[in-house]
Amino acid sequence: MSHWWEHAVVYQVYVRSFADANGDGLGDLEGLRGRLDHIAALGVDAIWMTPIYPSPQLDHGYDVADYFAIDPIHGDLAAFDRLVADANALGLRVLLDIVPNHCSREHPWFLEALAAAPGSDARARFYFRDGKADGSPPNNWRAIFGGSVWTPVGGDDPQWYLGTFTPYQPDLDHTHPDVDAMFADALRFWFDRGVDGFRVDATPPVGKTPGLPDAPPLAPGEFNPHTRFRPEGHEVWRRWRSVIDEYMATHPGRELMMVSEAYAPRRPDLMAEYVRPDEFHQCFAFDLLMSPWHGPSMRRALADAVEHVAAHGTWPTIALNNHDAQRIVTRLAHDGITSPDAWTGDNLRAAEGEVDLVVGTRRARAAAGLLLALPGSVYLYQGEELGLPEVLDLPDELRQDPVFANTGGDKKGRDGCRVPLPWTASPVGSHGFSVTEGDDVAEPWLPQPADWGRYAADTQVDDESSMLSLYRRLLAARRSHLGRSEPGTTALIDDHDDLIVLRRGDVLIVCNVGAGPVDCAAVAGRAPLLTTDPSGTRGGTVVDRDTTVWFS
Ligand code: BGC
Repeated sequence: MSHWWEHAVVYQVYVRSFADANGDGLGDLEGLRGRLDHIAALGVDAIWMTPIYPSPQLDHGYDVADYFAIDPIHGDLAAFDRLVADANALGLRVLLDIVPNHCSREHPWFLEALAAAPGSDARARFYFRDGKADGSPPNNWRAIFGGSVWTPVGGDDPQWYLGTFTPYQPDLDHTHPDVDAMFADALRFWFDRGVDGFRVDATPPVGKTPGLPDAPPLAPGEFNPHTRFRPEGHEVWRRWRSVIDEYMATHPGRELMMVSEAYAPRRPDLMAEYVRPDEFHQCFAFDLLMSPWHGPSMRRALADAVEHVAAHGTWPTIALNNHDAQRIVTRLAHDGITSPDAWTGDNLRAAEGEVDLVVGTRRARAAAGLLLALPGSVYLYQGEELGLPEVLDLPDELRQDPVFANTGGDKKGRDGCRVPLPWTASPVGSHGFSVTEGDDVAEPWLPQPADWGRYAADTQVDDESSMLSLYRRLLAARRSHLGRSEPGTTALIDDHDDLIVLRRGDVLIVCNVGAGPVDCAAVAGRAPLLTTDPSGTRGGTVVDRDTTVWFS
């Protein structure tokens, strides 16, 4: 039996930056509902919305204060129901984001825990521990966004609490029965409202080594084995899977799924553990999103993604962009990105230095031609279909990402890929981001660059050479020419160092990442079906630099 998600293309909506219906400068559900036709016209299967739950918004919704409601800045449950109905009517399924590793420090459970005594049941839903005798934190673990994972409760309280990301995102202890029960209820609550699945945030830190021992010395790029990819975490996912399976058994016709967000750089074995048959339906393979524009590096990323999950009888799940990484147009615009040394294995460590956006855009087009030819499921991030670059020159005082503040500016953070979308060439309403009319429309929450109008959807829609037209063509060709493929049947052909050559049934896809044109012997006798070169195909078997051609 086949499932809708196996080959689905999912469009990620960063709700805060997609469209703003009430003119307050922040995206909302009604704004999204009003622009669903853009997503449907691309020809994707589903949307995934970043967290829309009540939140103090210190990590823009990834600090959840209530898993059963909608933040008033985004709307309310009635607006949510209208959105789901309209999306479904357009043939789009709806995925939510759920954050299991931590909640907000304003979640009622955490407030209760702070007010409760050390050793209380309220504290056992989190990781509260005494500090060491010398006054230092309970252990040496480091936070992902900088600093120690431990924050002292303060006052006379001897305890510290653990936050893997920031002090305002306390980690939940999933061995406490309340935590387990609450998330099972949350899954069912949103399934009852028509949701088709979840993108599950930050899965590796869920579950810790009992006793929380110090981490061993770690080389750069190594992860702390006591708080990443733990077997205790996988037990949680098996319980979640059984909630989903039970729900489907009692609701015939519903086909639900969950996808794991786990960065496991060059550790496809760890990634593949999430897609064991009793765990996730999908797990993102992120190595291509972090890869240099370099043949062997990209072939490795693809082979790892495709082959390791095929061992579990399933397909890869790949994205080139998301709300946590530098936008690909800019990432690939860096000169040094063609070196294998450009691999950092860290999505938060953006490329730096001079950029050439003409080159970056050409490469991003070629990368899209490769991405949309892959077997399995593909996730797109809002604005990549417009070819938006990263906004690099946001003034530091306007940056909102905790990554910037918590690393003392060492990492610029993710604001540059979250700037509100341009819908119209006209600057009115922040290029159509704020759709209300009138003088009291607020500035967008991050400023749009002066030239944002050239990327606007309405500038691109009738231009055959635009990024938007390319995405539409690629998505249409994916549907008409590629169809399904069984796990393990996609061949990666090692033809030439600079070429990524992929066979999908009758179609050969060739991506040239080298510095010049390459004559590709493997495609002899075939005709080009489409090219990512904005000036069209050149015919024959030559593939130009920074170009992907599909041959049939
Ligand atoms: C999300 C981030 C978020 C973090 C903490 C991630 O992996 O994608 O945007 O800041 O989890 O929840």
